[in-house]
Amino acid sequence: MRERNNEKRYKNIIADFKRSFPGSEKEVFLYRAPARVNLIGEHTDYNNFPVLPLAIDREITICASPRKDNKVILKNRNSCFADREFEVDFQIAPYPRGDWGNYSKAAFQALQDYLRIQKGEKKLLSGMEALIDGDIPASSGLSSSSALVVASAVVINDFNKLNLDKLSLAELLARGEKYVGTEGGGMDQAASLCGKKRAALKIDFFPLRIEYIPFPEDYTIVVSNSLVDAKKSASANSAYNQRVIECRLGTALVGRFLEDKYKVECPINLLGDLKKSKFSDLLKDTDKMLDEIFPRDDFRLGETGSMLKMEQGELRKRYLKLKGGSYFNSPPSGFKIKRRLRHVLGEGERVEKSAQCLKNQDMEELGHLMYQSHRSCAEDYEISCPELNQLVEIARQNGAVGARLTGAGFGGCTVNLVQSCRVEQFKRSMIDQFYRDYLKKEEDFSACLFSCRPSSGAERVV
Ligand code: GLA
Repeated sequence: MRERNNEKRYKNIIADFKRSFPGSEKEVFLYRAPARVNLIGEHTDYNNFPVLPLAIDREITICASPRKDNKVILKNRNSCFADREFEVDFQIAPYPRGDWGNYSKAAFQALQDYLRIQKGEKKLLSGMEALIDGDIPASSGLSSSSALVVASAVVINDFNKLNLDKLSLAELLARGEKYVGTEGGGMDQAASLCGKKRAALKIDFFPLRIEYIPFPEDYTIVVSNSLVDAKKSASANSAYNQRVIECRLGTALVGRFLEDKYKVECPINLLGDLKKSKFSDLLKDTDKMLDEIFPRDDFRLGETGSMLKMEQGELRKRYLKLKGGSYFNSPPSGFKIKRRLRHVLGEGERVEKSAQCLKNQDMEELGHLMYQSHRSCAEDYEISCPELNQLVEIARQNGAVGARLTGAGFGGCTVNLVQSCRVEQFKRSMIDQFYRDYLKKEEDFSACLFSCRPSSGAERVV
């Protein structure tokens, strides 16, 4: 596969920037932050289980110039995104939910908090003028929004000489992106910042650790878009947050059960904390553990309160509170706690096995694990949709070694692992059996179905 050639695009962006922000004495810089696909490990990051993504050769590019004052002026080469302007402050009020400017504000807020809280400095970050461009399909589960947060942050880090290294930035931004209203984990920011050419990243959390595993040349990652919007706003946002809350409640119930049964403390905040606890042996047979703790699947909030011996007010404050201070509305039918935990525990184990497969170049076995993961995402975590399931099935029938939804789910893309020598034939079959029903033109096919290669992480280009 040929390298994507960005040189011409970069030249055009710089020329456009100079037209949009005239002033000949300006110093102009160009930064990029890549998208990611996740090979396996979905909704494990915020549970302290690992993930296995790679940064890809699609990116957000920012051409920017520093300002002496605190004003931030953002323009976008895509005319769907109107200009935005704001002042950096200690508390930056967000735009309405879903506004693209919030992703840049999230980066400013995170780094301003770092400066004030961790460094004890009273000064405000300086502003910038920026023109943003990108070739990541939006709302497709490839993390275009985190790439914008990351790209903004690397600019701010440089312009303000904060000297934050990539791991520290990734940790700050994982928390910082909650500013936009999603209780996400840390995978996207870490992958976009720390990506490496020709390698997948096994990422562990709390604290963030990255292991690079070479990705074999004779296999190709093909991304296919289900054409169902996977916006992290509105209903998908709420469905995502519900999964996070189900895991929080489930983890508390596991902890309580173990304390009551064994009469010892079980201080676990996240399900993955079990790995390092005195109960780690229970992870050898997670089905048995879940069957013992949870007599059934669904639990209403009140029931979890009785099981945790906690009154409603305290329960809501501890487990239903979102970053902005609002509360999640608990669904009348209850939380599907047992099956959510079954997915997370199984998926955590699949990531460990997958990382080993990749090291051994056992791609067939990695592919099996990917199919298993998709099934668990669809049945236990309920984050798939008919179009994603159909894409995975078509991929399987056409020789993909592995295929699964990638990212938060609820639409977006699938990731397909295909032998490099079979990629063209694979794509033709996907077009005939899926895309021809929806799209007409050749260029539409290539926008929705493309091969990608593991790429390097966010950086200054010019
Ligand atoms: C989104 C979040 C990530 C992760 C994935 C699901 O992309 O931003 O932190 O939770 O969903 O694996």
